[in-house]
Amino acid sequence: MTNPPEVRHLDVDDVYLVERIDRSEHVDVEYTVRDGQLAERPVSMSEIPPWDPFGTGPYSVAAEIAFCEPLVRSGATLLGAFDGAELLGLAIVDPAFEGPNAWLAFLHVSRPHRRRGVASALWSAAVEATRGAGATAMYVSAVPTGSAVGFYLSRGCELADSVHPDLYAMEPDDIHFLCTLT
Ligand SMILES: CC(C)(COP(=O)(O)OP(=O)(O)OC[C@H]1O[C@@H](n2cnc3c(N)ncnc32)[C@H](O)[C@@H]1OP(=O)(O)O)[C@@H](O)C(=O)NCCC(=O)NCCS
Repeated sequence: MTNPPEVRHLDVDDVYLVERIDRSEHVDVEYTVRDGQLAERPVSMSEIPPWDPFGTGPYSVAAEIAFCEPLVRSGATLLGAFDGAELLGLAIVDPAFEGPNAWLAFLHVSRPHRRRGVASALWSAAVEATRGAGATAMYVSAVPTGSAVGFYLSRGCELADSVHPDLYAMEPDDIHFLCTLT
């Protein structure tokens, strides 16, 4: 990638682009929350594979699309980061999640394009998309890997005082963050 990523607002017909994300990752660090603080814990999966392109089970492209599509259909914003025609990453933000909170429901940068500011560009666009809805904070249920936790901490997110019960039930190992939007 030579240029800064271009972030575009996409629509529900573009959710299929999820299939172009290489979600694979080598994990060196994993976190949990202990006594209200982030603490390292043994890595549960050091090589996260790409999403299964054919099946329909957990961590398949089909399951990811089935998660994303209804969100976008019901009003969440789908954002794509591109370098020309090449997809670098995708994000989904629900600006009117609950009370004053928006929800960053999805954020993935394809493996070859990480650590070049793509997620930061998607985050900025997601924050911008919440402004009209009057959200004052962004709720994030983050996978507990070093990259995801490092990214959200870099955005100024803090551990949520109380976890959202439905999101916690979906992903009990996730780290739940709340980021005040300025
Ligand atoms: C987490 C993820 C979205 C970050 O995307 P990215 O485009 O690489 O992030 P950026 O380049 O914008 O990074 C911004 C900052 O986040 C932090 N960060 C990003 N990757 C990190 C890592 N591997 N370890 C620690 N901190 C990290 C750093 O502070 C970084 O700034 P720096 O590069 O100047 O040090 C990406 O690694 C990813 O898609 N991972 C797999 C899917 C995932 O975990 N998604 C989150 C689901 S909740």
